[in-house]
Amino acid sequence: MEPVPLLTHIQSRRSIRKYQQRPVPQAVIERVLEAARWGPSAHNRQPWRFTVLTKQQHRSDLADAMAARLQADLRADGVDEDIITADTGRSQARLKNAPVVIVVSMTMADMDRYPDERRQHFEWVMATQSVAMAAQNLLLMAHAEGLGAVWMCAPLFCPETVREVVGIPAGLEPQGIVAMGYPAQERTRTREPLSSRVVFR
Ligand SMILES: Cc1cc2nc3c(=O)[nH]c(=O)nc-3n(C[C@H](O)[C@H](O)[C@H](O)COP(=O)(O)O)c2cc1C
Repeated sequence: MEPVPLLTHIQSRRSIRKYQQRPVPQAVIERVLEAARWGPSAHNRQPWRFTVLTKQQHRSDLADAMAARLQADLRADGVDEDIITADTGRSQARLKNAPVVIVVSMTMADMDRYPDERRQHFEWVMATQSVAMAAQNLLLMAHAEGLGAVWMCAPLFCPETVREVVGIPAGLEPQGIVAMGYPAQERTRTREPLSSRVVFR
């Protein structure tokens, strides 16, 4: 098989939110994580941690706990009950139906430490940037393996819930969830023209 040029591969990746129920072999999941592991990171400290959920019960528990939390937040915002039901149902179904759910967390344990808040904040930003770069590797590798995946930011809004249900140690900050599986949808998406985002000086 001819390798797909990198740019074509990048351009053809889409966020996929519907999956076949076909399980994803462990070796494929490991290759996807291997790509993530080779992402660049600040000081090469590799502050990413991955928790992989493939069991239906674990995915359902996470989906239900996050939905309950989202529901409470939306109610407090005064959002219409119909909209709340639709919103929570959508995110719940996505996690329950994805054969693989990967919780992507970040740790500051190996990052540099500063006595002042300003530099410590930058160090935290560096760690989150590093995790995001690993996540992009992960998404591109999933695509190369014929999988569909989507990055979801919901854990940022309920880190304690995610930590508790998934059993993630206290020092780790859940940054996102990747839902993944063989795709059951095709999507197109455009990007703004390069000229609207780039200036050559
Ligand atoms: C930081 C970040 C947060 C995102 N959060 C969500 C999310 O919570 N739910 C979701 O369905 N997609 C989420 N996405 C996926 C984006 O919606 C998607 O990447 C964007 O619409 C472009 O579509 P494409 O990835 O198919 O090109 C997120 C993407 C990023 C980078």
